[in-house]
Amino acid sequence: MRLVATKSVEPGTKLGKPIFNDNGQVLLFEGVELTERVLERLLNLGISFIYIYDERTEDIVVEDVITDETRHKAIKFIKREFQSISNDLKLNMSINCDYLSRNFSEVVKSILSDIKQKEDALALLSDVYVYDNYIFTHSLNVTVYTLALAVEVGFTEKQLMEIGLGALLHDVGKMAIPSEILNKPGRLTREEFDVIKTHPKVGFDMLKNLPNISLVTAHCALQHHERMDGTGYPQGLTNESIHLYAKLIGIADVFDAVTSHRVYRRPMLPHEALELLYSGVNTQFDKRLVEAFSRAVAVYPVGVTVTLNDEREAIVIKQNKQLSSRPVVRVISEKGKKLESSYDINLMQQINITIVEIESTQAAPASSKKE
Ligand SMILES: [Fe+2]
Repeated sequence: MRLVATKSVEPGTKLGKPIFNDNGQVLLFEGVELTERVLERLLNLGISFIYIYDERTEDIVVEDVITDETRHKAIKFIKREFQSISNDLKLNMSINCDYLSRNFSEVVKSILSDIKQKEDALALLSDVYVYDNYIFTHSLNVTVYTLALAVEVGFTEKQLMEIGLGALLHDVGKMAIPSEILNKPGRLTREEFDVIKTHPKVGFDMLKNLPNISLVTAHCALQHHERMDGTGYPQGLTNESIHLYAKLIGIADVFDAVTSHRVYRRPMLPHEALELLYSGVNTQFDKRLVEAFSRAVAVYPVGVTVTLNDEREAIVIKQNKQLSSRPVVRVISEKGKKLESSYDINLMQQINITIVEIESTQAAPASSKKE
């Protein structure tokens, strides 16, 4: 299986992994032959990269980070709880959160158990999902990334549960933002962005008085856009004043926002998103946390085509848990000449060989993110 830019896929190629919608229903099945029309439709939906079948990488399986069961359960609960909050807000009623904490704790437990069973660094989460409402998938992805980071840093079980709950609810304030602004496909005006920027405080106010939600969870919602140098919002807090959990969520939030498929820009690949995070070390993000995050996520996704420093072209076939920037690759061409039979190199063992380029990044220029 290979991960390629949708734009470069030849009609007739077979899809390697199904594409789902937010309800977990399959939009396109694995193995389906991609016609010109389907490929165009995928691009219109903002799907810039897809997995395809490929003879040379037939044996490569790209495993999902969380099981389908966990994902479907999580999306179902997030949707239900967020929609019920949104309805309560519309009716000016106090928020009914009888099941919120119980359901969400169950989701956090399932995600944690899935993450802990994986030996490899965390793969990209956003490659095969089409969103009808981005906030549900985003809340789930941020929770998975935040928990992977938190496990890497080494928090206790109790703390992991608190962090996971904070991550699931970090953007709950967005339920009070008009959907024309929230789901606007293009760039936001200054006024619209000012409205978006109210969501941390709105979320905090929603959560702080709920009987079965701890105050630290409410602070995750309040502070996840705060940055170390005080340039964040809503309070412009600096380093020591920002809660550690909110710092973790802030990193996962940015990573998911820039690596997700959105119609108005192409997604970044993990190595680009990590570069972005590294460029904000000590100004926006805590250095220790960014380093831990780069150990927790896979820098080069399995299936992606890379160029090595000696002009060999290869496909990433396996992660190295100890160092995700040096995966195992399968060489398919040397100096522009396709090989009759390919061979594998473990970049952990051949430290003189480096990855200098990723094929899919040439798909289209990335424009700046929404938030
Ligand atoms: Fe947010």
